[in-house]
Formats: sequence, structure tokens, C-alpha cells
Amino acid sequence: MQQVKAVVARSKGAPVEVVSINVPDPGPGEAVVRVQSCGVCHTDLHYREGGINDDFPFLLGHEAAGVVESVGADVTSVAPGDFVVLNWRAVCGECRACRRGDLHYCFNTHNATQRMTLEDGTELTPALGIGAFAEKTLVAAGQCTKVDPTARPAAVGLLGCGVMAGIGAAINTGGAGRGKSVAVIGCGGVGVAAIAGAALSGASPIIAVDIDAKKLAKAEALGATHTVDSSKGDPVEEIKRICAATYDGAEGADLVIEAVGRPETWKQAFYARDLAGTVVLVGVPTPDMKVPDLPLIDVFGRGGALKSSWYGDCLPSRDFPMLVDLYQQGRLDLDAFVSEEIGIGDIEAAFEKMHNGDVLRSVVIL
Ligand SMILES: NC(=O)c1ccc[n+]([C@@H]2O[C@H](COP(=O)([O-])OP(=O)(O)OC[C@H]3O[C@@H](n4cnc5c(N)ncnc54)[C@H](O)[C@@H]3O)[C@@H](O)[C@H]2O)c1
Ligand SMILES: [Zn+2]
Ligand SMILES: [Zn+2]
Repeated sequence: MQQVKAVVARSKGAPVEVVSINVPDPGPGEAVVRVQSCGVCHTDLHYREGGINDDFPFLLGHEAAGVVESVGADVTSVAPGDFVVLNWRAVCGECRACRRGDLHYCFNTHNATQRMTLEDGTELTPALGIGAFAEKTLVAAGQCTKVDPTARPAAVGLLGCGVMAGIGAAINTGGAGRGKSVAVIGCGGVGVAAIAGAALSGASPIIAVDIDAKKLAKAEALGATHTVDSSKGDPVEEIKRICAATYDGAEGADLVIEAVGRPETWKQAFYARDLAGTVVLVGVPTPDMKVPDLPLIDVFGRGGALKSSWYGDCLPSRDFPMLVDLYQQGRLDLDAFVSEEIGIGDIEAAFEKMHNGDVLRSVVIL
């Protein structure tokens, strides 16, 4: 066991604290990772606010890259010294989803079995089974995906959550590609990543929708061909108009990605897609939200697919090394997602900036 500095949320709504925690030596199937960088994601704030569950105290942070320090005796997939991006869906390989080949739906993903603790022995709940606002963290070995060790940790670590969710929503879940139009509603870290994914896929036009002009500028920098400020009017008609200008007869976008997590924006996505188009919900709604007044005949009559996307339907072992290589080749600008590099004591300020829409991602450097 060793002691390291880490960021803990002790109780609902209370500011996070930097404290000393105990990290056990890795047991079977586990690895200890020396964290180099960890992005600040909305989900960390949700944990702090008690919006995920009540299993306080939480060890926050889950968009991380680092170097494996030690592994359990039986671990062969990674070794000390490997540069890894951490993932929160280490597939089991044995559940019904895995056995039928749908590994991205694994119903029994793995985390470390031992618990990290406060100095007094109180067990911590690591955010998304990771807990990487910490100098070192204990994870399941399957949560470590080896990538090109010369890549910048602050940039590639973001593949561990929001950026992968967005790119995957476009490419894996939504099937974006050449000859298809894509609209993305909500251009935060996830939505802008969906735009970058759509651009990688060759889709065109790529229409970015947000209520914040700063976000639309970012979306344009990452591949949006058109922007729509939906604080100034209904974006549905504008999306239809842009798509019809490219594809004769189009009545909307082939793929519309909702990256806000609200009923009204999902409904915009529903009506902005072309006949037989696809809607992908990657934004996470709260349990009380409902879609009001949606005629069932519209669901039937418009055909197509209404999907949701968990973690961009990614397979870390397939997608992380590939996307890191695209980054290294200059074909995927992950640096553009890093708005600022901060210290471990700056997380409350980063939550504030995120709340105000001032950043795509603040990244803690450890
Ligand atoms: N499905 C997954 O696996 C997964 C993973 C990570 C995050 N998420 C979710 O994705 C969503 C987006 O995350 P993020 O980190 O990009 O958050 P964010 O807060 O950075 O971005 C949200 C964006 O939506 C915009 N917005 C708000 N209301 C809008 C409206 N009415 N119309 C248009 N735009 C609007 C905001 O201006 C902002 O740019 C969240 O719900 C988050 O929980 C999902
Ligand atoms: Zn499984
Ligand atoms: Zn996240």
C-alpha cells in the first residue's frame, strides 16, 4: 500500500478537497497507474452534487492517461512502464452480450476489486470505477489501454470519456460517413467531438447547433461546415434548409446527434432528421425528464432509427490506439479540446468554468 494525494468529494454539494489516500498494491487482475493527466468532465460534478448516487466519499476524475506502475501477478495485458489511457468499460468477455459478439454492450464490465481508502480506512467510491484526480490509482487491468507512448497525455487522456463518447456517437452509433449529412445539437466537449468524428468519417454537411456563440466557433474549428445559433430561432427548419441545399430532396439530416440531454433538444433532433434518418442520444437526461406530445404516428411514419449511445459504443482496445494514431498523424485535433492545464487544487475553479461554458476541457496535470 502507498499514500498519494487525491481529490475527494466527501458529501453532497460540498467543495472537493485534496487529501491523502491509501492505494493498495495491485491484486489479481489489477494495476496501479501513475496518473499523468485527467480531464474535468461534467460527470465529476454530477458525482459531487449527489446526482449519480449517494456512495460518498467519491474519488473523482476519470478521463486519464498515465503509466502503469505495477500489476497483479496474473496480469499479462499490460506491464509496468506501459503508457495507457484509462477506460470505464473493461469488457468481461463472458456475459451474454460479450458471448454474442456485442462487446460494447458488456453487461458486466470490470473494475478493481480492492478499494482505495481515506487515511482513516473509509472506503472511497472511484468515479466511473477509475478515480484519477490522484497521483496514482488502482484499476482493473482491463481498464488500461496501451497507446503510442510519445503522445501528449493531456490530449489523449480525453479519449477516456467525453471525446470518445462524441466521436463514437457519430461513427460507431450513428454510422456517419461519405454521402451523409450530420447535425449535432449541443457543442460542448461531447458535441464538438461528435463533429470531429463526423469530419473524420467524410460526412457533409456537418451542422453545429448551440445557444452559445463561443461553442459554435469551436465547432467550426473542428469540422462543422455550418453553424446554427438556436437561441435565435428554431434550428429544425435551418437544418432542413442546409441539407436540402446539398442533397436535392433532403428533408433533414441523415444523422442528428443530441449532445445536451434534454427533451426539447431531443425533439429538435427527432424532427430535424430526414425520413429514415437516425437520431442518436448521447446527452444524458435526468430521471424526471419526459418527451411530451410526440405523436406515435411520427415515430412510425418517419421510419429510421432512434438510438442512444453509451461511451460512443466504443471498444477501447480497438478505438483508443486508432484515434491516438490519427491524433499523432495530425488528422484528429485532440489538442483543441484541452482549454487549459491546471493543478490538482484547481478543480472547483474548473467546475465553475465548465458551468459558465468557458472551456471544452480543463485538464489536471499530475
Ligand atoms: N453517453 C455517454 O456515454 C456520455 C459520456 C460523457 C458525457 N455525456 C453527456 O453528454 C452531454 C454533454 O456533455 P458535455 O461534456 O459536452 O457538456 P457541456 O456542458 O460541455 O456541453 C453542453 C452544450 O450544450 C449546449 N446547450 C445547452 N442547452 C442547449 C440548447 N437548448 N440547445 C442547444 N445547445 C444547448 C451548451 O451551450 C453546451 O455547449 C451531457 O449530458 C453529458 O452527461 C454522455
Ligand atoms: Zn461482458
Ligand atoms: Zn466523463
